[in-house]
Amino acid sequence: MILSARHLTKTYIDSDQTIEVLKDASLDVQTGNMISITGKSGCGKSTMLHIMGLLDAPDSGELYICGERVHSESKSAPMIRNRDLGFVFQFHYLIEDLTAVENVILPMLIAGNQESHARLKAKEILALLGLAERFNRYPNQLSGGEQQRVSLARALINQPKIVFADEPTGNLDPVHSNEVWEMIMNLNRELNQAFVVVTHDVEAANRAHKSYELIDGRLNLKKG
Ligand SMILES: Nc1ncnc2c1ncn2[C@@H]1O[C@H](COP(=O)(O)OP(=O)(O)OP(=O)(O)O)[C@@H](O)[C@H]1O
Ligand SMILES: [Mg+2]
Repeated sequence: MILSARHLTKTYIDSDQTIEVLKDASLDVQTGNMISITGKSGCGKSTMLHIMGLLDAPDSGELYICGERVHSESKSAPMIRNRDLGFVFQFHYLIEDLTAVENVILPMLIAGNQESHARLKAKEILALLGLAERFNRYPNQLSGGEQQRVSLARALINQPKIVFADEPTGNLDPVHSNEVWEMIMNLNRELNQAFVVVTHDVEAANRAHKSYELIDGRLNLKKG
């Protein structure tokens, strides 16, 4: 088991209303899993992903990563985020002043690797994602699909145990969307990379081994 989220709850309290987003959400991720999460807008998918990725804290419930209980404030959280978890968001969040390669090496530099070694690794992954001709382009010189593939490369560079992707194709046209989905499926198949992907695309979600729907604060298994 790489990750186990147990009975997570999360409530947002605004001045005028209380929103119980997660009520009893549990999810297990095992080596090589390809998991999708769908659900209505505002049902809590991003919240769930952020909690599992140690970017946000639940009100109650437990999170275990490789058997170790962790939370976003744990001393080890920054290291776990950098080393064990990768993130891809709907908007790529690449740094505009850095080239594709320079964006991809950042998590490796943060982990303390030599730049020359990181550059070799980044080029290897970018080439694997079909971007061999694009190493030195800036984000604004890349198509939407290419930008998302660069952010996928950045998420993969430290060989994380899990990659979380929050609507990674939500901002793309069908052709580029399909291109990114193919990459994700290939990485899962060929490198056994575990993914948890949030998507609105039910057809894409069905391609995962395990498919969950977040309804009323709980994750219901739909397939798998
Ligand atoms: N920081 C916050 N403060 C108050 N309410 C919040 C906060 N973050 C999220 N919410 C509310 O919690 C609910 C769940 O938000 P979340 O972003 O997890 O939904 P989602 O399922 O990812 O939606 P979408 O499909 O539109 O991205 C929403 O109703 C949202 O308005
Ligand atoms: Mg969301």
